[in-house]
Amino acid sequence: MNEYGLRSSDLFRTCFRKSPDTVLFAPGRVNLIGEHIDYNGGRVMPCSLSLGTYAAAARRNDGVIRLVSVDMGGAVVETTSEELASLPCVPLSFARFGWAEYPLGVAAKLIENGFYVGGFDMAVCGSLPRGSGLSSSASLEVLTCAVLKELFFIRLTGEQAALISLAAERDCAGVNCGIMDQFICAKGRKDHAVLLDTHTLSNEYLPFDLKDSQLLIMNTKKPRRLAGSKYNERRAECEEALRLIVASGMDRKHLCELTHEEFASVEALLPETLRRRARHAVTENERTLNAAEALKTGDIVTLGKLMNASHDSLKNDYEVTGRELDSIVYAARDQEGVLGARMTGAGFGGCAIAIVEKDAAESVKAGVTERYKAQTGLNCEIYIAETGEAPFGKG
Ligand code: GLA
Repeated sequence: MNEYGLRSSDLFRTCFRKSPDTVLFAPGRVNLIGEHIDYNGGRVMPCSLSLGTYAAAARRNDGVIRLVSVDMGGAVVETTSEELASLPCVPLSFARFGWAEYPLGVAAKLIENGFYVGGFDMAVCGSLPRGSGLSSSASLEVLTCAVLKELFFIRLTGEQAALISLAAERDCAGVNCGIMDQFICAKGRKDHAVLLDTHTLSNEYLPFDLKDSQLLIMNTKKPRRLAGSKYNERRAECEEALRLIVASGMDRKHLCELTHEEFASVEALLPETLRRRARHAVTENERTLNAAEALKTGDIVTLGKLMNASHDSLKNDYEVTGRELDSIVYAARDQEGVLGARMTGAGFGGCAIAIVEKDAAESVKAGVTERYKAQTGLNCEIYIAETGEAPFGKG
């Protein structure tokens, strides 16, 4: 067990004065391409990371639930399974639990779906850089599913765990996100990316082999303040664009169902801003399919170019990048040995990624750090991305 797993069991012992029955892990995620289209029925291509969240947990027989987190100051949050069963799954009932709204939301959703969840104690510890947009919340939700599955012998598939986690995030925490993060945190595999169709949930594991290159994660260290409000605004804009397209007589359930050609035939009907939002969805979906092909055939140069195009579309058409993400991405692209760079996740701060020739990684890190600091005054952090195993990845 690594340092973070040990810290979760140490905290468990200190707080609850007994040993945990189990210690489990769920990864965070990095999305290679397919951004802001998991709520438009598009294809996404994320990887699960070796960084994520650990939980030490034990079952109780009295219905009491106690939760504590190394990262959140160590105060114990307490409730009961009976109380959870009676709470309406809305943000108002869960906000008072603070960070524990995620695990408690998952427990409540499992109960709502007819699964038995009794009392338990759980201590968590995360290894993801905080506020970095690498899906710490989805990681914690999926981890809770894995813990409760084991403690209460729940028959739960990875897909069900992802859907329960998504329902908790949407209904209990009030974040109207797509399925990508929960799916990859539940079902990702080490050394693989997943090409996921977010409309049907059909998926394919693709060996994540960048040949002589590797993936860098570049943390802008800019808090993602606008992420929530602007995220919902973009979703609403996409829904409105789709409504206008359907009203014109083209029957589609999602923007990403439209081909390039179909979009060209209707785009003039859309007001300028909505046209750009919809164009991002349609083109990003196609880029993701091409990127999957490039990864399969080992054409890393093409993969890098598609990443560049993805960022440019997120900047110009979708407008979710911002000064810091643009600055770090352009700083990376200007370095020798970089094949492509883009923002990853919701945007407005958080992390970007770059594909970098292995031999050039150190000089790229130094060059990006210096230039980014000069332009923004911020100290970025750059890590080599390592993929990790998700709790439901093998079945
Ligand atoms: C956040 C959401 C995801 C997805 C990305 C953007 O991470 O949680 O569902 O929409 O933003 O691709």
